[in-house]
Amino acid sequence: MGSLTRLIVFLSILAAITRKSNSQYLFPITKHEPTNQFYTTFNIGSPTKSPVNLLLDLGTNLTWLNCRKLKSLSSLRLVTCQSSTCKFIPGNGCDGKSCLYKQPNPLGQNPIVTGRVVQDIASISTTDGGKFLSQVSVPRFTFSCAGEKTLEGLPPPVAGVLALSPGSSSFTKQVTSAFNVIPKFSLCLPSSGTGRFYIAGIHYFIPPFNDSSSSIPMTLTPIRGTDSGDYLLLVLNIYVGGSPLKLNPDLLTGGAKLSTVVHYTVLQTDIYNALAQSFTLEAKTMGIFKVPSVAPFKHCFDARTAGKNLRGPNVSVIEIGLPGRIGEVKWGFYGANTVVKVKETVMCLAFIDGGKKPENLMVIGSHQLQDHMLEFDFSGTVLAFSESLLLHNTSCSTWTSKK
Ligand SMILES: *[C@@H]1O[C@H](CO)[C@@H](O)[C@H](O)[C@H]1NC(C)=O
Ligand SMILES: *[C@@H]1O[C@H](CO)[C@@H](O)[C@H](O)[C@H]1NC(C)=O
Ligand SMILES: *[C@@H]1O[C@H](CO)[C@@H](O)[C@H](O)[C@H]1NC(C)=O
Ligand SMILES: *[C@@H]1O[C@H](CO)[C@@H](O)[C@H](O)[C@H]1NC(C)=O
Repeated sequence: MGSLTRLIVFLSILAAITRKSNSQYLFPITKHEPTNQFYTTFNIGSPTKSPVNLLLDLGTNLTWLNCRKLKSLSSLRLVTCQSSTCKFIPGNGCDGKSCLYKQPNPLGQNPIVTGRVVQDIASISTTDGGKFLSQVSVPRFTFSCAGEKTLEGLPPPVAGVLALSPGSSSFTKQVTSAFNVIPKFSLCLPSSGTGRFYIAGIHYFIPPFNDSSSSIPMTLTPIRGTDSGDYLLLVLNIYVGGSPLKLNPDLLTGGAKLSTVVHYTVLQTDIYNALAQSFTLEAKTMGIFKVPSVAPFKHCFDARTAGKNLRGPNVSVIEIGLPGRIGEVKWGFYGANTVVKVKETVMCLAFIDGGKKPENLMVIGSHQLQDHMLEFDFSGTVLAFSESLLLHNTSCSTWTSKK
């Protein structure tokens, strides 16, 4: 090989390594109303494709599913213990020849799920930011095949759990490495209907944000704790109606974990009490009356006494103060995200008292996150969040035309 040829070969390899493709991928998100769980759907297998519904979980490291839900196993391959794929999975095991993986079940009665690690072809959809475009294949999608019993406790349409953790074996990391695209994903959880899950999203065309000249305003804050497999936000303050809660600073040091499987935000008792007290006091001044509580909630109100606006029931805004680029930024939660209607005439503060010593002092759940656009950039470990899309008269389930 001449030196010029070698140089060209070298330069094109370098370009292939450094060039990131602009492709972006879109998946639907369905809310399973009876359980308030969220799942996405895509195809596994070739040539016979099986659509599978997988629960979205920010805390799962490797996708698992009941492989009996696949119509054909002809393209499924076992992963051996010696393979590098097996070695890279945290906490892997070995069963003589094939790679095993044990992990916690985010919901069900069977707390630990053990399965054989396998690979198959996944078919996912590209997007222009608004519509589903064409199907492309992830040739070696790695996941684990778990038994039927592990599905107990999961919503019935679901075949398993999709890994969205910051770990290197998560589904999102696998897709971004397979296609060499920007290492990020975005969730727009719907309050009803079909929401959106993007991988490497560049544009989010949710009407009226329907071209690249009008993008959804987003605020940035760092994500911590990704080594532990969680996404944690550093909470500086919590505000109700603009006034900060008086909290022991130690209660905020653990940060707030984001969860897609916990529906209502869970707060350590002292944080919960401070929030509920301040919220109830504000409600009183707005002429909203307290009524007997309805489990699992502790603070409920007469829904007829609250007005309504674009953001849901007209109650005090709850904000969390987070570190921004320069100083504190606030993430506001309005009526649609802070209260929940439990009966025609009763609405409750949609937060749960997690007890004196919970594992995490704050877990921000999906009732609070829905109808916000959330972008997890795991190269810079930054979260970009939008304010409630309801403020823009839209939602995560608004589509320009039929999909
Ligand atoms: C974009 O949104 C506006 C409403 O804000 C609408 O009038 C317009 O038709 C939309 N354009 C497309 C291409 O859907
Ligand atoms: C996920 O992996 C991380 C290491 O990357 C580990 O610390 C964490 O415990 C794992 N999480 C689960 C739920 O297994
Ligand atoms: C919301 O409540 C505030 C305080 O009671 C009141 O000033 C405002 O007019 C209400 N807005 C709507 C749209 O009901
Ligand atoms: C929101 O949309 C509704 C119709 O869908 C319209 O009547 C209303 O004026 C809009 N409000 C704003 C603030 O854009």
